[in-house]
Amino acid sequence: MGNEVVDHGRRRFLTAATAVVGGVGVVAAAVPFIKSWEPSARAKAAGAPVTQSLKKIELGQQLIVSWRSLPIFIVNRTKQQLAALPGQDPRLVDPKSDGSSSAQQPKYAQNEARSIKPEWLVMIGICTHLGCVPTYVGEMKPEPFDPNWQGGYYCPCHHSRYDMAGRVYKDVPAPKNMVIPPYHYVDDMTVQIGVNPKEAS
Ligand code: FES
Repeated sequence: MGNEVVDHGRRRFLTAATAVVGGVGVVAAAVPFIKSWEPSARAKAAGAPVTQSLKKIELGQQLIVSWRSLPIFIVNRTKQQLAALPGQDPRLVDPKSDGSSSAQQPKYAQNEARSIKPEWLVMIGICTHLGCVPTYVGEMKPEPFDPNWQGGYYCPCHHSRYDMAGRVYKDVPAPKNMVIPPYHYVDDMTVQIGVNPKEAS
């Protein structure tokens, strides 16, 4: 009876020792896998949020920064450009961005200006037709492609047009408004692209 107990104890010990050795082996073997699952520093940097000061972007100007290899248009919209937005509604495919374009922006940017602060547009500058980068044509004056142009974007590839909030006009090949990425304000004049505002997350 006594031997049984001792044997039993030894067996348990041996089992435990084996388990520990096995455990170490397993951990050692697992390290290369874990390493390969971790994104490389470069991949991390490519997907990381981008912080951008707005200080040097003058009224009516556009700055393009790169986030996840995508061009991000940041525009300091003028009062006139903003004032022209509501008047465009009848000419647009989805002016309220609540139909075919309801997934094209976060909820906090689902408004007339498609932004957190009306004056600052932050948008992925990719045409929703076949992915060209539309040209910023900010001036409100007759253009060859629109005699009543109120500022916005013109895609040189197949002539799609968008207004100053990236909302697509009717009768062009692009089906949807351009995409607004997640972003928030770090302070009054600094945005971070790739991260939602705290209250939205
Ligand atoms: S890619 Fe812009 S209109 Fe075709």
